Amino acid sequence: MKQIGIFFGSSTGDTEKVATLIRDKIGTDMAAIHDIYESCVDDLGQYPILILGISTWGLGEMQEDWYQFLPRFRSVDFTGKKVALYGVGDQESYPDTFADGLGLLYDQLHKNNCKPVGKWPVDGYQFQHSRAERNGQFVGLVLDERNQPELTAERINTWLNSLGF
Ligand SMILES: Cc1cc2nc3c(=O)[nH]c(=O)nc-3n(C[C@H](O)[C@H](O)[C@H](O)COP(=O)(O)O)c2cc1C
Repeated sequence: MKQIGIFFGSSTGDTEKVATLIRDKIGTDMAAIHDIYESCVDDLGQYPILILGISTWGLGEMQEDWYQFLPRFRSVDFTGKKVALYGVGDQESYPDTFADGLGLLYDQLHKNNCKPVGKWPVDGYQFQHSRAERNGQFVGLVLDERNQPELTAERINTWLNSLGF
């Protein structure tokens, strides 16, 4: 059985593309991708390791498929699971709400007694405010496919290495 479930919510395909890059880097024997739009609580439950990917829409809102999934979040049992998060945003157009969706998802996980791993430095980004920043670090990997797509592959590699994947 695959060990790592990568669940993404994506409106224009960026977060989905990143999910594919992460899956390919880890290896298809170890990791599988799921669109949260088509997923249920049991799908999340089958993996000991979860990587959850989310983009930000509106002014600092969660991508809508994750938003729809929230009522079901309460019944996901994260006991014993290792959970890491990544967020996709646009720091130039939305410097005051950069990758906020990632921060909102992180808060939701905390309510479920889950403490995600995989913090990421804020260096190398230009923004004013982000709900994904806590104590000077992002709560997960942050990617910007609009303005820094050339950095995505290397950021993913570094992040996955830091997680031991
Ligand atoms: C209407 C609109 C609102 C957005 N709001 C934000 C935002 O508040 N913060 C942010 O970081 N990015 C924001 N973005 C940028 C998206 O998160 C970015 O384009 C992302 O790559 C989309 O990923 P997806 O295709 O996987 O949904 C917004 C984009 C649009 C078009």
